[in-house]
Amino acid sequence: MQLTEHASSLDELRERFQTVRNFSETLCEPLTPEDCVVQSMPDVSPTRWHLAHTSWFFETFVLARQPDYTPHHPEYEYLFNSYYNSVGKQFPRPQRGMLTRPGRDEVIEYRHSIDVAVSRLLEDLPEDMAGSVPAIIELGLHHEQQHQELILTDIKHVLSCNPLMPVYREGVTQLTPSRELEWIDFDGGIREIGHTGSGFAYDNESPRHEVLLRDFSLASRPVTAGDYLAFIEDDGYRRPELWLSMGWSALEQEQWTAPLYWFEKDGKWWEFTLAGPRPLNPAAPVCHVSYFEADAFARWANGRLPTETEWEVACATHGAADGHFVDGLLAADRPVHPAAAASDQPIAQMLGDVWEWTASPYVAYPGYRAAAGALGEYNGKFMCNQYVLRGGSCATHSTHIRPTYRNFFPPEARWQFSGFRLARDAE
Ligand code: AVJ
Ligand code: FE
Repeated sequence: MQLTEHASSLDELRERFQTVRNFSETLCEPLTPEDCVVQSMPDVSPTRWHLAHTSWFFETFVLARQPDYTPHHPEYEYLFNSYYNSVGKQFPRPQRGMLTRPGRDEVIEYRHSIDVAVSRLLEDLPEDMAGSVPAIIELGLHHEQQHQELILTDIKHVLSCNPLMPVYREGVTQLTPSRELEWIDFDGGIREIGHTGSGFAYDNESPRHEVLLRDFSLASRPVTAGDYLAFIEDDGYRRPELWLSMGWSALEQEQWTAPLYWFEKDGKWWEFTLAGPRPLNPAAPVCHVSYFEADAFARWANGRLPTETEWEVACATHGAADGHFVDGLLAADRPVHPAAAASDQPIAQMLGDVWEWTASPYVAYPGYRAAAGALGEYNGKFMCNQYVLRGGSCATHSTHIRPTYRNFFPPEARWQFSGFRLARDAE
């Protein structure tokens, strides 16, 4: 009885493993081999590197646990280790674009050999691995899905550097009007946030703990491109009093005048998207803004960014997966881009479309402990100088997000699908 249950859940895991691994390759189908080599800035990794690194993850943390395991290639550990110091030294991140070899075919071959080996292992999992390996494979699949999102955001940056403005994938934009902005009130008091239940979560979502909140209101939808345009037209980028000191420095240094990928042509605003250049859709959530831009807009609009605690409490109450995710958009032949949601939820699009910057620094929850060993480096060591983003984006797979999910980026980062929604203190 126990045995069958165990076996069938391993079969399920094997099937999911193949589905998630295949989706990475599906995302790369529209790309040429040349597209997959380029690193347009240090934050961006070449597509091929993502495809190899996610395979390296399974090889290192699953396959290499077998006593007689021979690595696929002796140098791959160095080339495709991202940041795990307890595994070994790493090829320098800013130079990933120098790696013209292994070529795409070789990387795909690497992937498939890892796929076969993991699949075989799951078919006949040794007793002494049964306790640890399924959970590591689960983590590896969520890791793969994080890199699927990065494949899209990174290739968007690469393609945007080309004056030909190449299309990643066409799609029909649906011009749903945006909802009127409403303010939804929440009572303060003692609440709980953090992971609960038996589903997967990263270590940084635990432990679940009590938080103390004051009464607050949250906007019923994310800030739209149209809202944001009004800020630009009101000289938002020329008024230092609206900006944090570090934000104003970033603006001056990087010469920010609008979100990343926005440009003006013949007196009209356009944006570069994964479907090529498109006229700005004022109803869609604004995206590709930094924390600094989100914060300045909020000050201009007499609001503020929500804390991650407020965001999660609101999402737990009202959050529905009514936004757009990459799997749904591809299935509907729509561009991988945020769009207004046709939703009658009291609070729309908490999940999907754009990651939402929160006012919260990315730090450990009280009682947090990183896992022992190399996998303890996955999340915990980045808990300094970054901010928490919530809710997933149009580049996130719908099976990858949940209300407790904590994404994190430095405040100046703009190349993710990062937007925001406003909060206010109760009157
Ligand atoms: C959580 C998106 C910041 O990009 O490094 C990838 C995700 N973690 N591999 C990152 C991640 C390990 C991570 N972010
Ligand atoms: Fe990674």
